[in-house]
Formats: sequence, C-alpha cells, structure tokens
Amino acid sequence: MPEEKFVDLRSDTVTRPSPGMRKVISEAVVGDDVLGDDPTVKQLEEIAAKLLGKEAAVYVPSGTMSNQIALFTVSQRGDEILCETGCHIVNYEAGAPAALSSLLVNLLPGDKGVLSAETIEANIRPINIHYPITKIVALENTNNRAGGTIYPIDTIAEIAEVAQKNKLWLHLDGARLWNAHIATGVPLDKYGSYFDSISVCLSKGLGAPIGSILLGSAEFIEKARRSRKIFGGGMRQVGILAAAGIYALENNIGRLAYDHMNAKYLGDQFSKINGLSVDLETVQTNIVIVDIENEKMTADEFIDQLASHNVRCIKFSPQRVRFVTHLDVSEDDCKMAVEAVKRVMKV
Ligand SMILES: Cc1ncc(COP(=O)(O)O)c(C=O)c1O
Repeated sequence: MPEEKFVDLRSDTVTRPSPGMRKVISEAVVGDDVLGDDPTVKQLEEIAAKLLGKEAAVYVPSGTMSNQIALFTVSQRGDEILCETGCHIVNYEAGAPAALSSLLVNLLPGDKGVLSAETIEANIRPINIHYPITKIVALENTNNRAGGTIYPIDTIAEIAEVAQKNKLWLHLDGARLWNAHIATGVPLDKYGSYFDSISVCLSKGLGAPIGSILLGSAEFIEKARRSRKIFGGGMRQVGILAAAGIYALENNIGRLAYDHMNAKYLGDQFSKINGLSVDLETVQTNIVIVDIENEKMTADEFIDQLASHNVRCIKFSPQRVRFVTHLDVSEDDCKMAVEAVKRVMKV
C-alpha cells in the first residue's frame, strides 16, 4: 500500500535520504573510525574543515553531542556560559550543560534571537574569588526558537572582539549555518573565522539521516575526539553515514534558497489569515513561527485539526506553532498547507 501523503512541516529533521544519497551510502568505502581507519569519514572531515576555514573537524552522531563536546572540552566544573534565552544548547539538550559539564548557565535577552556585543560584555564577570569564571559564549545561527533568524556578520565580528579581549571561548551552534550562508551570501569560511569552535548539522536542511561536525583548531579537535569517546560517540564503520554527509554538502546547500522561498510564501499567506499572526521580519530562512489568537483555539487544537487535513506542524508554546520547510517539501505542498490552515481557521 502506498503511504498516505502528509506534508510534514514539523522540522527539517524529518527528511528521508534521497535515491542519490542512498546510492553513495551503499557504495561507501569504510574502516574502523575509532582507530582512524575510515577513509570516508576522513574525507568528510576534510571537506567540512576546508568549507568552514578551520584546521580540523570531527564527525559526531548529533548536533547535541557536537555542542556538548565543545562545552565539555573547554570548561571546568562551575564555569559560566553566556547564551541567548531561547538557545538550543540550554533549552533543548536535556540539561546537558549542567549534567555533563557542570556549567553555570547565564541566559541573556536577544533581539529576535540575536545577542549584542554590549549585552555580552555587560555580563562578563570580573575576576574575583567569589564569582564564577565566565568561560564560554555560545551563539546560535540561525536561531531556531526565534524563527530561523540570522546573526548579522558585523554583530558576530563585534562579539568576537569582545570574546577575544576577555579571553572567552566563542562557540557557534551552527546547526543551520548553511541557511544563514545561503540567505546572506556571507561565505562559510568568513563565519568560520570568528569562532573558536563551530558545530554544523548534516541532518537538518541538508537532508542526511544523521550526523554533525565539530570544527576548530587541530589542538582543540584532538581534545574533542577524546571527549567524543567519553560521551560514547566513537563510531566504527561509519563511513556509510559520512558518505551521506559528503553527498549532502556537495548537493544540498545551494537548494536551501528554495526552502527559504517556500517559507516566505507560507509566512506571507499565514499572516493574512484571520486569527493568526506572523512576525514576517523573523522569516529570514526556512522557519515560520505562527501565533494563534487565544479566542480561536490552542496550539494543540490547531495541530490536531491540521493533521486531519494531512499537514503537520509542531507546538512551540500554548498559542504558538512552528512550520519548517525542507528538502521534502515542494511549492505545491506549501499551497496544500495554506489551504489546510485556511480550513482549520474557517476562512
Ligand atoms: C539550533 C539547533 N542546535 C542543535 C540541535 C541539535 O541537533 P540534534 O537533534 O542532531 O541533536 C538542533 C536540533 O534541531 C537545533 O535546532
């Protein structure tokens, strides 16, 4: 029986490997990667390091592990990390900064998910025996919770200057850095030049079934490899998955512009529907955040009713839902989603 068609806009993580990707998976040359023997993993790490202008890279199973390895590798118990209020590292990684690295977290307010250099500088603790040591600043580009918003490159440059002046480690959660790069035209290695460590994901907009890459100096990556082992992330003949990652980097970055166009269309259409509101300024990449008027229905009711029209989105808060465009969503799918939302909202 053919599967029933759903337009799945819950996340860009729901993509399934394309036939081309499956082919390279089946043909991948592999070895034991913990022993440093997997040529496909090495190739992926080299390609990524070159793309982002970093000395070295390490392939890891997930974005969560990648971020947390970075924090664990460069901090000591009780150190402080500065991040934006809605960031993934603190809100969606199951308490890992505390559970794995004993970090103290200081969440700072951003403007549509974007922190300023002034806010960061004002929150760095002076050296004093009573205070925790501020050690890490972590940015998220694009910012998921704020709706796929982009850090302006000048803001990143200002933050990097503050970090350098204060000897802070600057980490980037770049799960969707590819989207920022395509939307702005800022080269990936320019982004790379400002950060001590960068985590990028292959399993979101780029459509690989699994995998993230942590990048930085050769010295940092050597230590991060050891941290990966501590976290149980050392993998064996994982070239079959790295091959999907190489395919994703070679074939699926440029096409993100199409996802952004589809997201713009969804945002524009949803914003015209009575009972819904969308801050169109935040629709900068592939994410659309929609607020539902209290009197109309809750997010749970909206999601259930939409699912009955074969369209899926995800809950962000009691009155807020998120739609994400991706590789497996066409313009026609977006039209179907808009019609379904209109029916749910009875317009
Ligand atoms: C911004 C951001 N960072 C990190 C992650 C974690 O990635 P993973 O699900 O591979 O652990 C996600 C997941 O959606 C994300 O949106």
